[in-house]
Amino acid sequence: MARIVGIAGSTRLASYNGALVQAAAQLAPPGTTVEIATIAGIPLYDADVEKEHGVPAIVTGLKDTIAAAAGLLLVTPEYNASVPGVLKNAIDWLSRPPKDIPRVFGDKPVALLGATPGVGGTRLAQAAWLPVLRALGARLWSGRQLYVAGAADVFGPDGAIVDEKVRRLLAEFIAGFAQFAGEPG
Ligand code: FNR
Repeated sequence: MARIVGIAGSTRLASYNGALVQAAAQLAPPGTTVEIATIAGIPLYDADVEKEHGVPAIVTGLKDTIAAAAGLLLVTPEYNASVPGVLKNAIDWLSRPPKDIPRVFGDKPVALLGATPGVGGTRLAQAAWLPVLRALGARLWSGRQLYVAGAADVFGPDGAIVDEKVRRLLAEFIAGFAQFAGEPG
């Protein structure tokens, strides 16, 4: 059973990106599970804190979860035409100490997804993640692109996808990524 970790870059209760990662988990193909991990509770990165206390337990736990997974699904909001600070902050902590980056991110299959109520579908945010993933040595899956725009009409009040086209595209996306993540690098 291939295990993928899904992380949404929003801690908002009614987050569209949270709903998207939930939907991806539900649509995962047989033989694949998407375990949803949260960035809630990760403190702001502070080098003094790291020096004095080391990497917080909440971060080391998430590092181990990613390291043990076959792939990482990053579901990103878009803030000011780029990545959201909360998710970047989490990734920055997860990259500490640098000598541990290969264990956590090195050659790790990573897929990018994102949802926004706006028209751009998080294109700019997803593009802005590319140099970050490159710096971490991750293996980006570029088999498909999915930009969920107009999220207010895509998700119902309970967070379920009500747009059949997006549901189909998401199912195809997660199936493609699961296959990629399951293949030897
Ligand atoms: C936004 N939002 C936004 N949306 C977008 O498509 N492009 C953008 O550049 C921005 N910029 C932006 C900046 C800031 C500071 C905020 C708070 C919001 C809107 C954003 O997509 C919307 O709030 C989403 O609902 C956030 O994702 P979640 O929380 O629903 O997952």
